[in-house]
Amino acid sequence: MKRNRSHRANDFLIRDGEFVRDFEAMYQNVDDPWDQQERAASDPLSTAALWFMSEIVRRDRLRIDSILDLGCATGYYAERLLALSGDAGAHYVGVDISPTAIARAEQRLAAAPPHVTMRARFETGDIKDWQEKFAGKFDLIFGGKVLYYVGPEIDVCLDHIEGYLVGDGHLCYTYNQRDDSFSNKYVTYLDVRDRLLERGFEEKLLAEMNRLADEVLVVQVWQKRRGA
Ligand SMILES: C[S@@+](CC[C@H](N)C(=O)[O-])C[C@H]1O[C@@H](n2cnc3c(N)ncnc32)[C@H](O)[C@@H]1O
Repeated sequence: MKRNRSHRANDFLIRDGEFVRDFEAMYQNVDDPWDQQERAASDPLSTAALWFMSEIVRRDRLRIDSILDLGCATGYYAERLLALSGDAGAHYVGVDISPTAIARAEQRLAAAPPHVTMRARFETGDIKDWQEKFAGKFDLIFGGKVLYYVGPEIDVCLDHIEGYLVGDGHLCYTYNQRDDSFSNKYVTYLDVRDRLLERGFEEKLLAEMNRLADEVLVVQVWQKRRGA
């Protein structure tokens, strides 16, 4: 019987002290890892990120025509990310390393309202690999709980994110981190922050929620330097 509990999903990611990150096997064996799809609408961290981002769009009068969702899983944030663009009616691309996750995202998309199906598409891809077709294309890149999975390759992934954004584009990511998170040995959210500052990104928001508890929930929003 398939189980959805967190440790079941994590078994495919960390094995014998190695960061094996076998997301494809995880999606093949676990229907809804960490219950992420079932809880998508109520997940406090992602909900906060989308709310903060919508405030920044409103405050800074951003026009969002194109959105890239890195590590999109089964695509459950496509509609809410598209809503950030308001009347501009953005286009959305969701990318995930797992073909099984992408197949499920495409199934979900087929049942979505027309304003979503017309504007969204999904593809399998690894954010560690450069995609020339994405170069300079996106006004907004969203990375929900994904950057710590590319901790060993964080610099090349940040190169790709920077390269995919338009000159004044925005990056919004979420990060949940415990003191004993396996990925801390490669990168923490504060390391990601330092690297983006070094690259000249402008910090629009750092929200560190739940700091006094055992897991800090982080939303970061950045603007790539204008004209880069
Ligand atoms: C914890 S889930 C988060 C899903 C969703 N973004 C959210 O916020 O709920 C991480 C997702 O990132 C994907 N992922 C991990 N490493 C990746 C990589 N190198 N390239 C693309 N996707 C990746 C996984 O397959 C998984 O679907």
